[in-house]
Amino acid sequence: MKAVKKMKSNSWDVEKVRADFPVLSQTVNGKPLRYLDNAASSQVPQTVIDRGAKYLREEHSNIHRGVHYLSQHATTAYEAAREKVKRFINAREAKECIFVRGCTEGVNLVASSYGRKFVSEGDEIIVSQMEHHANIIPWQMLAEEKGAKLRVIPMNERGELIIEEYENLLNERTKIVTVSHVSNSLGTVNPIKEMIATAHKFGVPFFVDGAQSVPHFPVDVQDLDVDFFTFSGHKMFAPTGSGVVYGKREWLDKMPPYQTGGGMIRTVSFEKTTFAPIPEKFEAGTPAIAANIGLGAAIDYLNSIDFAAAARYEHELLEYATEKLSAIEGVRIVGTAKEKASVLSFTIENVHPHDIGTILDQSGIAIRAGHHCAQPVMQFFDVPATARASFAFYNTREEVDVLADAIQKVIEVFA
Ligand code: ALA
Repeated sequence: MKAVKKMKSNSWDVEKVRADFPVLSQTVNGKPLRYLDNAASSQVPQTVIDRGAKYLREEHSNIHRGVHYLSQHATTAYEAAREKVKRFINAREAKECIFVRGCTEGVNLVASSYGRKFVSEGDEIIVSQMEHHANIIPWQMLAEEKGAKLRVIPMNERGELIIEEYENLLNERTKIVTVSHVSNSLGTVNPIKEMIATAHKFGVPFFVDGAQSVPHFPVDVQDLDVDFFTFSGHKMFAPTGSGVVYGKREWLDKMPPYQTGGGMIRTVSFEKTTFAPIPEKFEAGTPAIAANIGLGAAIDYLNSIDFAAAARYEHELLEYATEKLSAIEGVRIVGTAKEKASVLSFTIENVHPHDIGTILDQSGIAIRAGHHCAQPVMQFFDVPATARASFAFYNTREEVDVLADAIQKVIEVFA
């Protein structure tokens, strides 16, 4: 088994890939940058930077509005990005891919629009205990507004959802289930394909927050049979302000607009407004044109590498880091699920995670420290916060070694 793993890793040329990301070659506090905060935002390859610069230099113009040359060029580039998204997640049609500013807006869009139409007093919405605040609060506000109830799928000590409990929560009052594909604070990969199939037995649609999965392994929305799926560009090598919420047409066609304004109408009079079909119905106002063209370029980049090999490499790196940090006395790993991706949360006895983050920064190591916008997770594990290293396919074993040494030094300082 070990030999096979080694062979697969060797097929991934990490140094070649690192050269594609200019930010990685800089020094921070006099030390080479070790960027291990990819769950917050990943870095951007030169090809994406170049595509953004080309748009701003040669194509900048508003889309869907002009008959002139630049507007048509910008519109073509924007819609080409939507086609790339469609192929990347294997949506049935590009129109099912709505551009949003990121996952947070994706959740808010569906909670608001689906909720307005389909959720009533006495209904139930199922979320999980490991959700990011962005996948709790919009549903909580919806529930409060409508007199509906939030039901929570609990997790076990390893940070895995308790699937039997989930099945017990589903009933004829359930209107939607919403779960993250990968937990941002624990790294747990949830068995969403099976969970979706179970929800569908009750005729219940399923929403997936894919912020932490799409950058780490291939996702196929048709294979998952998921009803709604959202992801952010800035965690998948694209600029901030880009992102997508995918929805099955059968739902999106029935849902009312989320925001209103220019670009999303068919006709307007003071008596009545009629709306454009999807995707325009959900894209009011001038969108993040440059950012979403950049998202298209990030997808081109992912298509140009062996993404499956990248995922294998990254997984081995996570295993290596887990082994190294687990071996350090005083370090506690928070989130030990069997299936994990990218994220390694940890605490050090008697050291606040913010101190860990600040000290590691002095060594050029970027990690995140805090509650990771997942306070219910912190409450469950009875910690105020964790330190979190999160990996991408451009990180190296050497960076993990530097991280482990720096953690050892933190322990010595506080001993
Ligand atoms: N949601 C992002 C994170 O987990 C910001 O860090």
